[in-house]
Amino acid sequence: MRTDLIKVAELLREAHRVLFITGAGVSAESGIPTFRGRTGFFRQGLTEEGIPFEEALSATNFHKSPQVSWRYFAQLERNLRGKSPNPAHRVIADLETSGRRVCVATQNIDGLHQLAGSKYVIELHGNLFRLCCTACDYQASDVTFDSLPDLPLCPACDDVLRPDIVLYEEPLPGDALNQFLAEQAQGFDLVFSVGTTSLFQYVVEPVLLAVRRHVPTIEINPEETPISDAVSFRLRGRAGLILVELATALYERELA
Ligand code: OAD
Repeated sequence: MRTDLIKVAELLREAHRVLFITGAGVSAESGIPTFRGRTGFFRQGLTEEGIPFEEALSATNFHKSPQVSWRYFAQLERNLRGKSPNPAHRVIADLETSGRRVCVATQNIDGLHQLAGSKYVIELHGNLFRLCCTACDYQASDVTFDSLPDLPLCPACDDVLRPDIVLYEEPLPGDALNQFLAEQAQGFDLVFSVGTTSLFQYVVEPVLLAVRRHVPTIEINPEETPISDAVSFRLRGRAGLILVELATALYERELA
């Protein structure tokens, strides 16, 4: 793996435009459970209502029983509350400092890339701490959930509020998708996929597109995923550890 790390550090040194696609694994070392891991959010069995967690967080369920969905939005929020960026988020943010454009397309709803200092973050699945009204234009940011009632209502129009996240069955937010497509149209010199199961086409396709264009691709993940066989380099292990090793190898090269 050391040889691969050195090769990837060399590629990073030359790269001007870098894409990081990230998932729950990048925040695992901040103490946030992943979704599908052994202790993941979706591995708790059924909810109190006897339905899968994915169903509780679906658009159909939210429209039918918003109070039930809110119970699990609140559980998600308790998992994220007070958590800080870990070395993986910080290394990704620090890579911007040498004049590289580092685009982060994240499926995470925790805001930790921005807290670490990344400037070009595309939140594909939204942000849990941002609330919006289901009926009017009301929005609120940086909301603390413990002050909210079981079913929060809009202070402007009294309709139901929701977190600004993508529920199951919903399309990606148009702004985020357009931003991501515009970044992809400009192309990248290097594409990383970090800490994601790579289940969704919109996080798999940019990696496969890079492969077709002979752009080097790197996966950082302790497990195999559907893209493992396609990428140029597989760095097996925890994102924080590997990215710190990569940054060390890069700075050794930049100083040499
Ligand atoms: P998953 O929970 O499906 O996958 C987490 C991935 O992180 C797995 O591939 C793990 O092997 C890997 N992993 C675990 N610990 C790691 C570490 N320390 N370093 C690096 N990798 C590690 O999460 P996602 O792929 O992000 O969507 O799931 C995508 C979406 O599924 C989520 O955004 C969520 C869920 O449905 C919505 O809420 C809309």
